[in-house]
Amino acid sequence: MTNVDDIISGIDTLRPIPPVAAQIMALAEDENSSMSEIADLIVHDPSLTASILKICNAAYFGLSRRVDSVRDAIVLLGLDEIIELVLLNATAENFRDEPDGYGLGEGELWQHAVLSAYAAKILAESHGFTSQKHLVFTAALLKDIGKIIMGRFVAFSYEKINILVHSRGYSFNEAEKEVIGINHEELGARVGQKWRFGDQLIYMIRHHHMTDKTARDDPETALVYLADIICMMIGFGTGVDGLAYRFYSEVLDRMKLTEKDLQNVIFDTGQRRQKLDKLLYLV
Ligand SMILES: [Fe+2]
Repeated sequence: MTNVDDIISGIDTLRPIPPVAAQIMALAEDENSSMSEIADLIVHDPSLTASILKICNAAYFGLSRRVDSVRDAIVLLGLDEIIELVLLNATAENFRDEPDGYGLGEGELWQHAVLSAYAAKILAESHGFTSQKHLVFTAALLKDIGKIIMGRFVAFSYEKINILVHSRGYSFNEAEKEVIGINHEELGARVGQKWRFGDQLIYMIRHHHMTDKTARDDPETALVYLADIICMMIGFGTGVDGLAYRFYSEVLDRMKLTEKDLQNVIFDTGQRRQKLDKLLYLV
């Protein structure tokens, strides 16, 4: 078994979320924060401002006039869209390269992360979790960050993991834990601790495959779990582990979601996918 401490030390090879993005994440989760507080944070960071304006002026958004200020961008695109762009911009760098071991092509982990984030947001907005939508978006975006570090260890142990998954009924994350001593959920939570994420965000990353029964009672984690399943069903950014996780139908029941509701979210997410290809490489 690989030394787990060696794997955890790989967190230092990631590019940490810039402090300004972390502050914006915290403000976005606070119902009492105002648009001007968030705009001020962006305005006082020239590099973030330049990135946001460049993205907003891309043809993708189809704006009728040029956007020259952050406040303009917020007025034209809405604060939610700008917060999401900040989050995508802060995390993209880590997700660009394909990790070994998961059978993903170039950019596929990033595609999956971004589509999961939008699927989670669609679920949150359509099922009464509006105030939590940025937290859910962020958790879904970052849930598989552990894979970036785990990849080469998974590649090294892939045969053993494969046997457990295909012959002994393990889910992929259970097999990672058994063979390597840690799985990508736990490692993702370690990243969150190191980068001083809030407890709830760390919990959602840690339990996004819901192997732990108690996590199935947590509605926000359930949204991230369902978003992951939806993206796997759509087949976007799905690698060798794509069909190797468990589906807990009781999560749908507890969330009072019918299969029809799920189909509607799959449809809406699929529509969003059509637009995402261009956005993925803008941030
Ligand atoms: Fe995962």
